[in-house]
Amino acid sequence: MIKAMEAKEKYTLGLEMATDPRWADIASHHIRDILTDHAWCEQKAASSCISLIIQYPDRVRLVETLTPIVAEEWAHFSRVLEELNKRGFTLGAARKDEYIEALMRVVKKGGSREQYLVEKLLMNAMVEARSCERFRILSKNLSDKALCDFYHELMISEAGHYKSFLLLAKEYLPADRVMERWREWVAAEADILRAIVPRGDRMH
Ligand SMILES: [Fe+2]
Ligand SMILES: [Fe+2]
Repeated sequence: MIKAMEAKEKYTLGLEMATDPRWADIASHHIRDILTDHAWCEQKAASSCISLIIQYPDRVRLVETLTPIVAEEWAHFSRVLEELNKRGFTLGAARKDEYIEALMRVVKKGGSREQYLVEKLLMNAMVEARSCERFRILSKNLSDKALCDFYHELMISEAGHYKSFLLLAKEYLPADRVMERWREWVAAEADILRAIVPRGDRMH
């Protein structure tokens, strides 16, 4: 019991709002849509790291940290495509991403270049933390054992990315300021999720 609680703590990453586990059941009835949406989430994760590298090529630690993450996210994209193909599906079109659009409105503008960088890193950490939490729910609740294993593996990978983004943010602003702002991000993200109707065909 204690071990299970520790694992839950480890993979919910201090999020304020827990996803209703029934979401996995709804998602299991829309597996084509959820996999398609998931594939695009992985593509956006890779693109977001590439954009940061393009915008901050002078930050050596950032380039070193994000380059392997781009490769991992792209490998995840490829793995999700395989899961679609195994089921006789092909990649559908990307949908409007309300969750990401709402998070982008949380990013503070008008500060220094470092402050803006930290905002972008915290936004990435947020998406990783929530993806990790959702993957954990899928890994525990889907009836398809192979997909449970797949999501368990990805949950661990995204938890690592979440840690990397937070560590990186602490390179550019003092750790206490980063954590203070992180708590604001966590609260803002909970408000965003409360306002979005949960759907079984969406990862967020
Ligand atoms: Fe990923
Ligand atoms: Fe990730």
